[in-house]
Amino acid sequence: MRHIVSILVYSALLHSVIASGADAALNPLNPLLKKTVVSCGACHGANGRSVSPIFPNLAAQLAPYIELQLKAFKDQSRADPDAQAYMWGMASQLNDGMISELAAYYAAQPPAPGRGGSSNLISQGKQVFEGGVPAHNIPAYASCHGDHGQGLDAFPRLAGQHAPYLLKQLLVIQNALRTSPVMHGVIKDLTKDQILAVVAYLESL
Ligand code: HEC
Repeated sequence: MRHIVSILVYSALLHSVIASGADAALNPLNPLLKKTVVSCGACHGANGRSVSPIFPNLAAQLAPYIELQLKAFKDQSRADPDAQAYMWGMASQLNDGMISELAAYYAAQPPAPGRGGSSNLISQGKQVFEGGVPAHNIPAYASCHGDHGQGLDAFPRLAGQHAPYLLKQLLVIQNALRTSPVMHGVIKDLTKDQILAVVAYLESL
């Protein structure tokens, strides 16, 4: 059932990307890459800035991280239900060359702008992101993901990412459905309130 729903959502979205015409960002791409980016764009937006919070923004994401994720969907090691329903099939079609080209394309797109939210929540989240929670030995996340959440190498950009998507990933990693030994260790003791604050802060960047 879940697969049928995702195929229906996918076709409807693909239609709207095609109907909206090729984005200027797509023009310089070779035909195969362009075709692939259009199909990814049905969910992630043609330039990697997605309009729905279920679908992560890929624009300005770091290329090494994008490559690692596409390979993890392809080898099925990133295996939460949404990864299975939406990304396993897509990634199974990609060879290493296409994975690098896609990663380079999205890394070069301008990032999605931050979205404001509750200023109280955002300032609590900033504190956790920049300072960690020393009482529980939780390190500052800024040390891996960059002072402004801009990412560093294989540590993903988090700035401007949809809060509901980040929330879901943190819960999935906390529950060990997405294999990430480093992240599992550093977020396992975060409370739900701290997680909600951090994701609101990151979305606002
Ligand atoms: C039918 C919708 C859909 C299509 C088409 C799609 N994706 Fe995704 N993609 C998703 C969803 C949903 C997730 C989040 C999965 C999860 O929650 O684990 C995702 C996650 C990702 C991620 C991980 C991002 C992160 O921040 O960890 C990457 C990279 C990605 N997709 C790239 C692509 C590429 C490249 C294509 C085209 C070849 C593509 N996607 C096509 C729905 C889609």
